[in-house]
Amino acid sequence: MSDAANNAVSGLNRPTLWSIPAHNIAPEVLDAKAQVLFDRLNAIAKEHQDVRFATSLAAEDMVVTDAIAKSGAKIALFTLATGRLHQETIDMTNQVQKHYGISIASIAPESADVDAFIAQYGLNGFYDTEEAKKACCGARKIKPLNKALIGADAWLTGQRREQAVTRSDLPLRELDDARNIAKYNPLFDWTESEVWAYLQSKLVPIHPLHFQGYPSIGCEPCTRAVKAGEDIRAGRWWWLQQDSKECGLHVK
Ligand code: ADX
Ligand code: SF4
Repeated sequence: MSDAANNAVSGLNRPTLWSIPAHNIAPEVLDAKAQVLFDRLNAIAKEHQDVRFATSLAAEDMVVTDAIAKSGAKIALFTLATGRLHQETIDMTNQVQKHYGISIASIAPESADVDAFIAQYGLNGFYDTEEAKKACCGARKIKPLNKALIGADAWLTGQRREQAVTRSDLPLRELDDARNIAKYNPLFDWTESEVWAYLQSKLVPIHPLHFQGYPSIGCEPCTRAVKAGEDIRAGRWWWLQQDSKECGLHVK
C-alpha cells in the first residue's frame, strides 16, 4: 500500500475528538442571559462581606471570571494549584490575570500532606483504589479549599446542572454545610451552547486544551480528551463510574 493510502487508512481509524460546539444563539438572547448573570453576581456580592470564586480556568469558570470583571461585583478569585495540573492551566492562570488586570490566588497543598499520600499510596496511587483517589483529592484539593475559604462567608463555583447526573438538581444557592457558609452556582441553569456562545462572542480567553478534545479540565493524570458524542465528563477519572466522578469539592 502506498504511503498516501496508509495515511488515509490511519486517518480513518483515528477517532474524531470532541470539539467546541457551534451555536446559533441570537446576540440579544445571550446578552439577556449575561445580564441575569451580572445581576446574580452583584446581588451575591451585596449580600455577603467576603465572597470568593473557585476557578479551574476551564470554560464555565472563564464565563464567571469575565462576568465578575464586567459586572464589577466585589468577588475575589482563587485556584487550587494541586501540583498535578497541566502546564497549560498554570500558563492560563497567568494569562487571565494579565488579561483582566486581576489577581487569582494560587492555593497549593501542604507538602507534608502530599508526602504522606505518596508514601502510603505512591504518586499515582489514585488509579488503583477509590480510597487512594479520595486521599489524593483530599490532600491536593479539599484541604487547600478549606484554607482558601478561611474568612469567607460565601463562595462561587462554575458548576452547571447539565454537566453530570450528580449535578442535575443543583440550585443557585445552597448551604456549604461542611463550612457553614453560602455556596452559589451562578451558571446552574446555563447550557453548554450558552457557555460556548458567551466565550466566543465576548472574546474571552479560552483554555488551550479545549481545542484539543477536552470539554472538561482537571488534574493532568486524571483528565483526558474525549471522542465526539461522548459524555462531556467522560475524560474525567475515566476509570470510574459516571456517578462517582466527583472529587469531593462539591460533595454534600
Ligand atoms: S470537579 O469536582 O469535577 O473537579 P469541575 O472540574 O467540574 O469539578 O469543576 C466544577 C467547579 O469546581 C468549577 O467550576 C470550579 O468552581 C471548581 N473547581 C474545580 N477545580 C478547581 C481548581 N483546581 N481550582 C479552583 N476551583 C476548582
Ligand atoms: Fe489527585 Fe487526580 Fe484528585 Fe488531582 S484529580 S487531586 S491528581 S486524584
